[in-house]
Amino acid sequence: MVELLPSILSADFAHLADDVAAAERGGGTTIHVDIMDGHFVPNITIGPPVVKCLRRATKLPLDCHLMIENPDEFIPAFADAGADWVSVHYEACRHLHRTLQLIAHHGMKPGVVLNPATRVNFIKDILPMVHHVLIMSVNPGFGGQEFIPFSLDKIRRLVELRQELGLAFRIEVDGGVAHDTVAQIVQAGAELLVAGNAVFGAGEPERDARALLAAARAAASE
Ligand code: DX5
Ligand code: ZN
Repeated sequence: MVELLPSILSADFAHLADDVAAAERGGGTTIHVDIMDGHFVPNITIGPPVVKCLRRATKLPLDCHLMIENPDEFIPAFADAGADWVSVHYEACRHLHRTLQLIAHHGMKPGVVLNPATRVNFIKDILPMVHHVLIMSVNPGFGGQEFIPFSLDKIRRLVELRQELGLAFRIEVDGGVAHDTVAQIVQAGAELLVAGNAVFGAGEPERDARALLAAARAAASE
């Protein structure tokens, strides 16, 4: 089942609750929250205090994508703030297995994220531990970048691995998901579509979320 996860990175941070509500009316089913520390990625965004406010502003699950160094140090704070899903980068975790255990131990759904240059096979052994795998289809740090085409091969490889291992993790894609790319992304096998610019960029999140989701569902039923 294809779902849309509006990424608030491109929302109006001074009117976050309104933007989230509009994206929800447009069909968004989980809110994607980008956490950046200025070290792991060349940008800074928000942290647990904003997640705590979002938790009060919407009933939708909050999918926190941690683009930070030393994520273990912050996992308890995100749990306290009300995060539902927490994903960490393969490239940021010295002890990925331990970090995924820590997320689950705090009652949140663990996910692992791969940068464009990181091969899917590297995470094979920890796949039984994750609720979702997030394929970055741009280099993380900014919204509105162009989709990297070889991400489609990584999605297909993950679908194969999931089948081979008999697992049920969800496959999420983040970066450059838009009208001109969404059909091929869905057809490659991605189910959780993160979109920032395509939902919030024109200032019409309800309309644009609805249109993107309709395009994704049409491609899924082809
Ligand atoms: C980028 C973030 C994304 C970002 C995607 O580092 O992880 O979630 O919002 O933006 P778009 O959809 O604009 O490519
Ligand atoms: Zn993200």
